Amino acid sequence: MPSRSNMDIEAMSLLLALVCGEGHVKTCRSYCGNITVDYPFATQSGCGHFGFRDLLFCVNDVLMFHINSGSYRVLEVDYAYKSLTLHDPGMSTCESIVRGGKGNGFVLESWRAPYLNPAPDNVFMLIGCTPESPLFQGFPGKHLPCRNVSGMGCEEYYGCPAWDPGPKHVGLIYSMSPPECCSVSFQAIRAINLTKLQCQGYSSAYSLAPLRLAGPSDWSYGIRVMYSVPGDSAFCRACEATGGTCGHDSVAGGDLCLCGDWNSTTNCDSVSKSGGEPSMLSLMDALTGLLICMVIWMNTIKDFDEALSTLWSRAF
Ligand SMILES: *[C@@H]1O[C@H](CO)[C@@H](O)[C@H](O)[C@H]1NC(C)=O
Ligand SMILES: *[C@@H]1O[C@H](CO)[C@@H](O)[C@H](O)[C@H]1NC(C)=O
Ligand SMILES: *[C@@H]1O[C@H](CO)[C@@H](O)[C@H](O)[C@H]1NC(C)=O
Ligand SMILES: *[C@@H]1O[C@H](CO)[C@@H](O)[C@H](O)[C@H]1NC(C)=O
Repeated sequence: MPSRSNMDIEAMSLLLALVCGEGHVKTCRSYCGNITVDYPFATQSGCGHFGFRDLLFCVNDVLMFHINSGSYRVLEVDYAYKSLTLHDPGMSTCESIVRGGKGNGFVLESWRAPYLNPAPDNVFMLIGCTPESPLFQGFPGKHLPCRNVSGMGCEEYYGCPAWDPGPKHVGLIYSMSPPECCSVSFQAIRAINLTKLQCQGYSSAYSLAPLRLAGPSDWSYGIRVMYSVPGDSAFCRACEATGGTCGHDSVAGGDLCLCGDWNSTTNCDSVSKSGGEPSMLSLMDALTGLLICMVIWMNTIKDFDEALSTLWSRAF
């Protein structure tokens, strides 16, 4: 009875989708390696939230995070907990201490501060800083900023194989040498600039477990960054609910709802448009497109019911 195979109908519906164009395609979501890049992040200009522009780059299937202090590999993006996990090959771990100022540290552009910040329970451990370092100003006074963060600190870190046979100076406040390692939270000093802090290296660790972990070999080494979207993504939810894709105006910086062939500053059901009213020409284009679709449809698909039911089942 059916005059066409399912293959034909599949091909036909693909052709129709191509010719007739859906308009509301998710143009901004992408993948980099096995990491999903979605709002508020993007790797294409005009996509994502303005506060995260020029931040992520997909290079040979490796997602890179780029800020003032350098580039980091993104290991994970957790959209539920609003966090990113970063790796810097110049960072020390439990297995090795990297000196010589090779690490990036972590310095954000000040305008990114409302959007991005290392997690409060992420510990930065600064290694081999000079006695003149701003960290030890007032040294040998009592005002060392060095302290444990979420139960993680240098005392434990010294237990790592990388420190074998142990640090030269363990950092008694009244000794004449600064500690070999000084642990701080990002919030305590606002920027991990190894040059400015006169440190040879650094490590960064975080713990995903709610309880204190046994030791430094159980910590995760990397930088955990929390992100936030001012306005709690309400704009984006409204935009997506009307079939749009969330983006921003890459020149003026405001939120934009990308609605296929036009952009809105609110959502795709709204009349407040950005980038001009649709012209008569584009209206004609749309009508012509629709006519072509109809013609293709009528001429090629005789078995109308079957095609329709195929399309219907594909849509749901
Ligand atoms: C992504 O791939 C890397 C290896 O390339 C793997 O270590 C990681 O667990 C993967 N992540 C997910 C979420 O699948
Ligand atoms: C809509 O906004 C996007 C992202 O800013 C831009 O690439 C595109 O050209 C805009 N389209 C129109 C019709 O203005
Ligand atoms: C780090 O500090 C040095 C010296 O103060 C400065 O020249 C440099 O620009 C800073 N780096 C970043 C990424 O801010
Ligand atoms: C930091 O950890 C070390 C080692 O466990 C401990 O001796 C010290 O009291 C801790 N400091 C704070 C402020 O918790």
